[in-house]
Amino acid sequence: MANKSVGVIGAGTMGRGIAQVFAQSGYEVTMHDAVPVAIESAMGQIEKLLKRAVEKEKISADDAAATQKRIHTVPKLSDIGRHPLIIEAVIENPDIKIELLKAAQSMVTDDGILASNTSSISITQLAAATDRPDRFIGMHFFNPVPVMKLVEVVRGLQTSDDTVARTITLAKDVGKTPVECNDHPGFISNRVLMPMINEAIFAYQEGVAEAEAIDDIMKLGMNHPMGPLALADLIGLDVCLFILEVLHRDLGEDRYRPCPLLRKMVQANRLGRKTKHGFYKYD
Ligand code: CAA
Repeated sequence: MANKSVGVIGAGTMGRGIAQVFAQSGYEVTMHDAVPVAIESAMGQIEKLLKRAVEKEKISADDAAATQKRIHTVPKLSDIGRHPLIIEAVIENPDIKIELLKAAQSMVTDDGILASNTSSISITQLAAATDRPDRFIGMHFFNPVPVMKLVEVVRGLQTSDDTVARTITLAKDVGKTPVECNDHPGFISNRVLMPMINEAIFAYQEGVAEAEAIDDIMKLGMNHPMGPLALADLIGLDVCLFILEVLHRDLGEDRYRPCPLLRKMVQANRLGRKTKHGFYKYD
């Protein structure tokens, strides 16, 4: 791709991470979010992470400054400009995503790619709402984006081979390891991860062990970097519930039913780290 630029829609946890990763790899990034506070918080967090990387001597102060300079922000989607790649990373709501994707498709260059970072919404369904479903793809990043190596490259029913090949190249170009899979509920990552998290919540609800004990067992016994309940807090309990609902509905199997405690915690707005309270409390 000659023009190293990318548009990112959404400045939340995932959008800001994606913006940082592309900017650190030399791309000019234009990030859109309609909520000014989200942009402010995203830029503040990126600055903090880059500063920490400089302190740890992972990057130079000049690189950190250049990375920040490459990230431009726009409060209006129509100002995002034209890019060979636009990645949507907004809330997991199909209606909102489709509305933004329809608006964004004209901002992708003629042979450009429109991608969604959705963690569970059908890529085929999102693609069908655009004029070029062959140039639409899932580019699923993982939290924290600057740290996690994987990009799950999700091929919708109509995604072309060329789009898949170019997306793989792009993911590698920003230092990630792309792994391809077909569009199916939960793809691979969440089809496997979410039942484990859900089962851990059932075990907690049934009083089998305290939250810390459940997490310690999985960390120390299975060598997971964090336990399933702490991970659910990191991902967001609302996101976990949404994904489980998709799996339950679209795969039609009882084994994916969301744990009632998960539902209750979401109703109580105990969403994990983002509300400072989930299975654990955060300062
Ligand atoms: N943003 C950026 N960098 C971060 C970070 C964040 N939020 N949190 C930690 N880091 C960095 C640290 O700066 C540190 O960097 P260096 O090695 O360069 O010093 C590195 O990550 C390790 O951090 P720590 O030493 O503080 O802590 P740790 O070793 O316990 O690692 C962790 C933290 C990387 C989050 C690790 O616990 C981990 O890998 N957890 C599992 C995360 C995971 O499974 N993510 C996927 C979630 S699923 C998803 O995102 C998709 C979906 O569809 C739901």
